[in-house]
Amino acid sequence: MKVGDRHYRTIWLNEDGRSVDVIDQRWLPHEFRVVTLKTLDDVAVAIRDMWIRGAPLIGVTAAYGVAIAMLSDASDEALDAVWEVLHETRPTAINLRWALDEMRTFLRKVPVSDRAAAAYKKAGEIAEEDIQLNRSIGANGLKVIREIAARKKPGEPVNILTHCNAGWLATVDYGTATAPIYMAVEDGIKVHVYVDETRPRNQGAQLTAWEMNGHGVPHTLIVDNAGGHLMQHGDVDMVIVGTDRTTANGDVCNKIGTYLKALAAKDNNVPFYVALPSPTIDWTVHDGVREIPIEERNSDEVTFVQGRNGDGSISTVRVSPEGSPAANPAFDVTPARLITGLITERGIAKASPEGLKDMFPERS
Ligand code: MRU
Repeated sequence: MKVGDRHYRTIWLNEDGRSVDVIDQRWLPHEFRVVTLKTLDDVAVAIRDMWIRGAPLIGVTAAYGVAIAMLSDASDEALDAVWEVLHETRPTAINLRWALDEMRTFLRKVPVSDRAAAAYKKAGEIAEEDIQLNRSIGANGLKVIREIAARKKPGEPVNILTHCNAGWLATVDYGTATAPIYMAVEDGIKVHVYVDETRPRNQGAQLTAWEMNGHGVPHTLIVDNAGGHLMQHGDVDMVIVGTDRTTANGDVCNKIGTYLKALAAKDNNVPFYVALPSPTIDWTVHDGVREIPIEERNSDEVTFVQGRNGDGSISTVRVSPEGSPAANPAFDVTPARLITGLITERGIAKASPEGLKDMFPERS
């Protein structure tokens, strides 16, 4: 997608052919910075400390991390050790494990001497695949937006609420939840997006709003607690969110607060869609609430906020009294029964074991 006049992906191979460049998302929307990841440690820190974030991008970055590590030691033992180091960086997004498994399974079949080159090629393929999956999700989600647009009065926009950032910054390009929105705009459909700020890290306010601005998508930033009120007043036509892990029975784990939006949507008959590429499905898990590990992040993310001062500098300020403890579960699980549909690259699946099996029969 575009930043100014230039097309960017969130991750690309550095011109040295070994390192990878990523958009350092910690400074958006105030500063656009690119950082070069040269070592396995750089990659692990970038994922753990959320220089990059979003389930699909975490997976792709980890794949490149494996490739970087293979340059110094491509043995089976090293491959296993790298898998462990990267796997423990963030526990909830399943795309991380998926990408690491893809890399390890593939590389084990490659002679050790050829592994580094093969790993870069495979990581590049995983990145390209992510883009194709998102384009297909966009085309499938666009059908829903079109249907809603057809029921609106002339000139009225389709009002879409989204939570967190499941945009192009969370993937290699296009995004998952945003792909249908970008395609609707390209298609000339009038849309308007309510962007949840998404405390504590404000991925909505800082990242989704920045994306919407950059691509001329009409939008309004709202506090996390406003969605229910807007739905009660008929101001939201549909919700589209992303996911960090979707279970085989259709439960959706996503950024903390998603569940409350789904409850409000159900109570107000607002369709609630989840956009997901199939690598986000964890076929081994059948009960999201009990089985998905929820990342507990540093409480500083709750007690401090980051913003830009009047002089342009960026600083972090405390918002709560010293000494008040804070808890920071980063994700929650929305049960399948609250979900209208799962927008996948193959089509829109019912959020149920049967719905997912029908869409992905090879998994039965
Ligand atoms: O903690 P984050 O910023 O990595 O969480 C991101 C989300 O929850 C996204 O909604 C999810 O990864 C889907 S991204 C296409």
